[in-house]
Amino acid sequence: MTDLYFELKQLSYAYADGTHALTDMTLQIPKGKKIALLGHNGAGKSTLFQHLNGILKPTTGSISFCGEELNYNRKALKELRQQVGIVFQDADNQLFSGTVMQDIAFGPLNLGWTTEKIEEKIAWAVAQTEVESLLDKPIHFLSVGQKKRVAMAGVLAMEPSVLLLDEPTAGLDNYYAAQVLQYLAKLENGERTILLATHDIPLAYEWADQIIVMEAGKIIYNGDPVELFFQEQLLERAHLERPWVFEMAIALQNKKLFDKNITMPRSKEDLQRLIEQL
Ligand SMILES: Nc1ncnc2c1ncn2[C@@H]1O[C@H](COP(=O)(O)OP(=O)(O)O)[C@@H](O)[C@H]1O
Ligand SMILES: [Mg+2]
Repeated sequence: MTDLYFELKQLSYAYADGTHALTDMTLQIPKGKKIALLGHNGAGKSTLFQHLNGILKPTTGSISFCGEELNYNRKALKELRQQVGIVFQDADNQLFSGTVMQDIAFGPLNLGWTTEKIEEKIAWAVAQTEVESLLDKPIHFLSVGQKKRVAMAGVLAMEPSVLLLDEPTAGLDNYYAAQVLQYLAKLENGERTILLATHDIPLAYEWADQIIVMEAGKIIYNGDPVELFFQEQLLERAHLERPWVFEMAIALQNKKLFDKNITMPRSKEDLQRLIEQL
């Protein structure tokens, strides 16, 4: 038994026009982790996700899932995609059925589950993403944010082992962006790994066990979320701003109000708790 989902070895990928989107990427993705992926536009985040789901095939190097190198025949890809769900950056690449209900049901209907199980999982995913009122609407009438939530529901209903979320909060208003964190929390089951590509640094800092920073197709940081924000040169290079909660904690430490040894707060609630203890 391996405790890894994915293992990438010296993976490189060039698009047909010659763009080198990923270069010599070596990476292990363990089970049961919440991993945030940060990096500029064009760093290669979406290209990486498309490799994990078998949509793109490495130009050189290798990629394995649960100890086995990926196979790109139709049957193997179908099995992979049952276990590795992706919510695309652009929901229009994801949704294709007539109505919201048809779209959400499409994946689960192809898994060989009992009708009872299918209905249960769809109802759960619909409730999590709050799309009940949209079920009978044609997809093309939905707003960007609504499409994202529908795309998310369709993937959640399949209960994937690995969930790839490509900028899930982009285009959502504050209310629904905050909801994303809440349903992510409900998805944790100890085994499932969630990878979240995002530009939302406070979200990554609050949520992730591990942060990967990419730049020009390479990994320039892979490790602890708190440790990352102490690395000033790296932050400058990757144009990453420190989360405000982190900044506040440092300011309070400098004023000697917080001890130097505190566990760094990751959320507004953590910070409030520390302040109340003063
Ligand atoms: N279909 C494509 N054809 C050619 N180049 C592409 C294509 N898709 C993405 N790229 C290029 O690959 C690089 C990585 O892009 P992408 O993976 O989308 O980055 P990110 O998701 O981090 O913004 C960028 O230079 C981008 O312009
Ligand atoms: Mg992208």
